[in-house]
Amino acid sequence: MIKREHWGSRLGFILAAAGSAVGLGNIWKFPYMAGENGGGAFLLIYLALVFTIGLSVMLAEMVIGRMTAKNAIGAFAKLKGGAWPLVGLCGVAAAFIILSFYSVVAGWTISYMVKSITGALAIEDPAALGSIFGGFIADPVSPLIYHAIFMALTVFVVLAGVGSGIERASKILMPALFALLLVLIVRSVTLPGAGEGIAFLLSPDFSKVTWATVSEALSQAFFSLSLGMGAMITYGSYLSKKENIASSAGWVTLLDTSVAVMAGLLILPAVFAFGFDPSAGPGLTFITLPAVFAHMPMGSIFAFMFFLLLGIAALTSAVSILEVVVAYFVDDRGISRKWASITVGVIIFLLGIPSSLSMGLMGEFKIFGLGFFDLMDYVSSKLLLPIGGLFISLFVGWVVWGKAKEDIAAHNGVVPFWINGWGIIVKFIAPLAIAFILLKGLGVL
Ligand code: PHE
Repeated sequence: MIKREHWGSRLGFILAAAGSAVGLGNIWKFPYMAGENGGGAFLLIYLALVFTIGLSVMLAEMVIGRMTAKNAIGAFAKLKGGAWPLVGLCGVAAAFIILSFYSVVAGWTISYMVKSITGALAIEDPAALGSIFGGFIADPVSPLIYHAIFMALTVFVVLAGVGSGIERASKILMPALFALLLVLIVRSVTLPGAGEGIAFLLSPDFSKVTWATVSEALSQAFFSLSLGMGAMITYGSYLSKKENIASSAGWVTLLDTSVAVMAGLLILPAVFAFGFDPSAGPGLTFITLPAVFAHMPMGSIFAFMFFLLLGIAALTSAVSILEVVVAYFVDDRGISRKWASITVGVIIFLLGIPSSLSMGLMGEFKIFGLGFFDLMDYVSSKLLLPIGGLFISLFVGWVVWGKAKEDIAAHNGVVPFWINGWGIIVKFIAPLAIAFILLKGLGVL
């Protein structure tokens, strides 16, 4: 038995976990979802869900991981067995599904980095940029090459291991990400006319809010915080008992949420300053933003920095998704990290092909009325992650509550004053709220 690896330092863990959380979900998805769902009102609902349910499930996952020092499936098997490991199994399935389409979008960001350097995006007309984007994603070959490059990078980090791969990469990439983000925000909020975008994000208009909005905010919270599929179980399993796990969970939640809000402040003011439509949907980042950059002096440089930022954020997240699967094969199937990373990476690459092709060649192919890409996104973020989070809460609240309390106090022997508040959330509030919002969102209730 090889000794299980540990994070080298507390900062290393927080950066790796924040690296998992901060991704395309924050920078690409959050601003357009806020744009489509009424800005400030969406933001408020999102924040309320993140700091109640999100934070509680984050802590629950990290505790399950640290108590067992096991992957997402093995952790449930070790603590209780029975049907519980199925929760981990759904998580591993979700990891395959999410990474397959995530890597396709991450590939687009690499291509857009290249396009910004070559000047191919220095066009002010969003309609022309729209056809560049539409043409690129519909191409049967080129996006697949970038998808392959991105998966190769992800595999490369994961096969180097927890300390010398994931932690080392996060320690370099996360500070770079924060620096890039700050430069770009300063540029965006100092544009003439930016105030309108800031106001849009910060002043709530509740007339647009429906249960569908709340359910969007909930899926977004799970996706953005990397919850519900065992990523935080897996990262928590490399934590030592000396760490203050609750404060780490708090930091990761805070960092992730700040980056989402900052991405909103980066993108929406620029969109408003140039008179574009904030509800442009998924194309907001790839169509509207290049147009915004094209209006600016040194726009190509800012465009390159932006897509680099997006690519870095995507890489540290993709690494955590792949690690969920790899940890399982390494712990429980006795496969070497190297082979597990490469094999799983290849399978996920193949699974991503139909997602990519659904933007073009396979555009007519629909399952339940959704294209392949949208179906993968729907099944994972709308169903698997919230349902996973529901069972993780129940598990910690009802099955291992005594042990979980001990684990929270492991670093200094003091049970924190808020422990029963957390207990009420994981036992009752989170499971009921998730079930209710899910059923409302599906139109069942
Ligand atoms: N949190 C990541 C993002 O916001 C995506 C992710 C989802 C990562 C689930 C791990 C697990 O982009």
